[in-house]
Amino acid sequence: MKVLTLGINGFIGSTLTEKILKDTDWRLFGMDLNSDWIKGHTSHPRLTFQEGDITICKEWIEYHVKKCDVVLPLVAIATPATYVSDPLRVFDLDFAANLEIIKMVVKYKKRIIFPSTSEVYGMCQDSEFKEEGSNLTVGPINKQRWIYSCCKQLLDRVIYAYGIRDGLDYTLFRPFNWIGPRLDSIGKQKEGGSRVLSQFISNILYAGEIKLVDGGKQRRCFTYIDDGICALMKIIENKDDCAKGKIFNIGNPNEEHSIAELAERLLEAAVSVPYLKDRASKTKIVSVPSNDYYGGSYQDTCHRVPSIDNAKRYLNWQPKTGLSEAIKHTLDFYFAGK
Ligand code: UGA
Repeated sequence: MKVLTLGINGFIGSTLTEKILKDTDWRLFGMDLNSDWIKGHTSHPRLTFQEGDITICKEWIEYHVKKCDVVLPLVAIATPATYVSDPLRVFDLDFAANLEIIKMVVKYKKRIIFPSTSEVYGMCQDSEFKEEGSNLTVGPINKQRWIYSCCKQLLDRVIYAYGIRDGLDYTLFRPFNWIGPRLDSIGKQKEGGSRVLSQFISNILYAGEIKLVDGGKQRRCFTYIDDGICALMKIIENKDDCAKGKIFNIGNPNEEHSIAELAERLLEAAVSVPYLKDRASKTKIVSVPSNDYYGGSYQDTCHRVPSIDNAKRYLNWQPKTGLSEAIKHTLDFYFAGK
């Protein structure tokens, strides 16, 4: 199988690359702006890496869409602070650039595996979000946070419509707060510059203060990256067409925790890491209003639990890793040997 991954150096792309090169005989082609997370693999005989911007290197992409069997367009801005600070950048990259790629996949009749998102459910009130049954509920236009959700939702609908009209072979997968090594870089950065676990780790490192937005009562189901990648591998393998034309929530419904609990668990784990011990024991947890942290065009969802019935039934998949273990693996990755 020939696999094309755009955004191969990202959180999902880099972990997937490692897994594909280790466990399969597939040929992998990938593009990214950077290669720091895959630098150990760029000279692998089954990987062709091209440094480049997907909005510019269109010929390279078209050539490789034509050449490959399956395409994973993983490039997207996925940090809520950017949804509110630069919504048009999110639109241009997450929506417009990816739409062009989807159209190439349709043109060459290839298979697409597209990263939708838990964010498409928005503020849905269902106790568990179902791919085929739950409403996708977002706030008013002045709440710009939802631009990411809407971009992804519209692409989901476009792909689905191509499936019906042109027989596009697709799978949509919806990660629910995947966490783990390489989620984001944990260098010194501005508040909100990365997703919550990486943000809190850099807060311990550089700020001595973890900020809980609106008190941190909002809940998420944290899913360890290796569990997510295991589901994604089954989707790519597509044994007996088990993933064809389907949408999968990929999340861990057993690991629903408030953001305040995440902060506490992280601090508990961080005091056992020598490099972090002193900083973690001095780090305070404080509450800040969302208006101060993200600005007025932010709106949040207070709970987000996936139904994973589809993934269990069609992929024979379920998550194995709990939050504490996921935090431990993440800290080991960044700080082992420091
Ligand atoms: C995320 C992002 O939109 C995407 O990465 C992704 O598509 C999706 O959800 C997912 O991973 O399932 P969200 O869960 O809101 O959205 O993103 P985080 O930045 O990880 O924040 C989680 C929660 O922590 C939010 O309620 C946020 O307000 C809170 N938070 C964040 C804090 O309390 N303090 C911080 O310093 C940062």
